[in-house]
Amino acid sequence: MSIAIVWSSPNKNGLTASAKNQIKEGIEKTGTKVEEIHLNELKLEHCRACGNGWGVCKTKGECIIKDDFADTYKKLVDADGIVFVTAVYWHDLTEQMKAFLDRLRRCESGHNGYLADKKCFLTACAGGTGKGAIECLHNLEETLSHMNMTACDRIPVIRFNKEYTLPALKTAGGVFADAIKES
Ligand SMILES: Cc1cc2nc3c(=O)[nH]c(=O)nc-3n(C[C@H](O)[C@H](O)[C@H](O)COP(=O)(O)O)c2cc1C
Repeated sequence: MSIAIVWSSPNKNGLTASAKNQIKEGIEKTGTKVEEIHLNELKLEHCRACGNGWGVCKTKGECIIKDDFADTYKKLVDADGIVFVTAVYWHDLTEQMKAFLDRLRRCESGHNGYLADKKCFLTACAGGTGKGAIECLHNLEETLSHMNMTACDRIPVIRFNKEYTLPALKTAGGVFADAIKES
């Protein structure tokens, strides 16, 4: 069994990375393999809205852009569960997370449906005022729901709550892995 952690922040030692590390530790404690995917390190272009807007992906289930998208997509299909961890920018997902999910949604909802019913765990990390973490989680869940993916939980990590949410994420990672094992 393996769980993919898709995360996005340019900071390898920031709040988002800390949240990701806690969840990863919790998952690994259950003996589950983790496939870590750091979107900021990958070559991922934006959707070009080809084919008059509907895209070749609607008929072929593949994106025409040759970059790291196809490999990353396959890793998510192969995973038993998926954790999304994003920094909060402008009350929303990072640009890298948005770009990746835009293309994933087109291939998935238009054609493939490989990720339907996949269990997910969502975390948004807002190190500023903390405002926008909830909107970010909402936007993420909306996008996932277009692919019929299921959110088991959504956790906002902000400056005010990080002392208690970061340790809790380790427990949450373990609970998430156990839930997937049982299902
Ligand atoms: C472009 C940009 C937009 C941001 N927007 C928000 C925001 O809407 N709300 C918030 O609380 N923090 C905001 N922040 C702060 C980040 O959420 C904060 O830096 C957070 O710690 C990001 O995770 P990191 O530590 O991994 O960089 C923003 C930061 C940047 C760079």
